[in-house]
Amino acid sequence: MVVILAQKYTLISIQLHIMPTHNLFSNLSFIVLLFFHFHFGASEIRFNYYSETCPNAEEIVKEQVISLYNKHGNTAVSWLRTLFHDCMVKSCDASLLLESINGIESEKISSRNMGMRNYKYINTIKDALESACPMTVSCADIVALSARDGAVMLGGPHIEMKTGRRDSKQSHLAEIDASLPNHNDSIMYVLSRFQSIGIDAEGTVALLGAHSVGRVHCLNIVDRLYPTVDPTLNPNYAEYLKGRCPHPVPDPVAVEYARNDRDTPMILDNSYYKNLKDNKGLLSVDQELISNPITSPFVEKMAADNNYFHEQFARALVILSENNPLSEDEGEVRSDCRFVNKD
Ligand code: HEM
Ligand SMILES: *[C@@H]1O[C@H](CO)[C@@H](O)[C@H](O)[C@H]1NC(C)=O
Repeated sequence: MVVILAQKYTLISIQLHIMPTHNLFSNLSFIVLLFFHFHFGASEIRFNYYSETCPNAEEIVKEQVISLYNKHGNTAVSWLRTLFHDCMVKSCDASLLLESINGIESEKISSRNMGMRNYKYINTIKDALESACPMTVSCADIVALSARDGAVMLGGPHIEMKTGRRDSKQSHLAEIDASLPNHNDSIMYVLSRFQSIGIDAEGTVALLGAHSVGRVHCLNIVDRLYPTVDPTLNPNYAEYLKGRCPHPVPDPVAVEYARNDRDTPMILDNSYYKNLKDNKGLLSVDQELISNPITSPFVEKMAADNNYFHEQFARALVILSENNPLSEDEGEVRSDCRFVNKD
């Protein structure tokens, strides 16, 4: 950044030098260039950002995602949730990955991030990139690219993604509760949160299809089972859930959980929407998608057409992954995804 800036100013000053002094035109162009610089100086993410500096970056991420998936299949599931929880809170800037140290309060401690797993394997991906191209590929790009490559491992669509995101030097812990919806928030609130980052109702319905994979801890479901069963729940499904979550107050240590999609819990497919039509939505936000008149037509369409679901999922994931990228001076490329660089 400093180098680029210096080069720009050198160019400008050379230009000024060769022009007659007090030339209105040169002053104007100076102002225009300065404006251009400050206005568009923000890191612009683009396709193949690393084509010169780390040509194999995307290939390396993909290889790592595949090899991790082969050892621990649920890593691919995690990368999708990691993207959501990083990008929805202020920016796709890998702030989520920072540990509590040196004045940073990690976002990982937020109750919204409960159940998040496989953080440590992000370091595996980062290590592979650091040995190929030190200090070049941002952790924020790893978050984005691993999610898109994870989606492919789960039978989802292939998604073209831009790169060049920068890593934050801060945690946004204080902003999490106001940014990430809770499992029992109203669908109108959820829609407004997604709308605020440019994702429409159709895209929101598609993104929630990520709940076609993975698990939910009983803590997030028991409100729907005890003391009385939520009447919007399919009674057979409620019985199954009670079997999975037998304690009204779940033991926080014992890992009790249920699956949204019991038939294909490792496939990113439209069975999520078919389940919703059967009143087998796991979280109350899931179930609300079918009862709300704005979202239910999209649920119907996605339940009927897996390709349509994949198209909309890809479109919305890209918007999510491009939320508010940091400018050059706000961000950096971390050498270790868990810590801000030392000066
Ligand atoms: C209104 C929006 C959303 C809410 C309230 C929500 C809430 C939750 C909750 C409570 C869990 C269970 C965590 C646990 O108990 O371990 C979960 C799991 C998950 N969520 Fe979401 N989520 C939302 C949207 C999304 C989006 C947009 C994505 C990705 C595109 C996503 C991906 C996932 C994945 C993959 C899991 C399973 C994680 C695992 O098995 O490790 N969610 N979500
Ligand atoms: C939503 O669930 C949380 C616990 O996960 C609980 O503290 C909160 O009171 C619930 N909110 C509503 C509106 O039920």
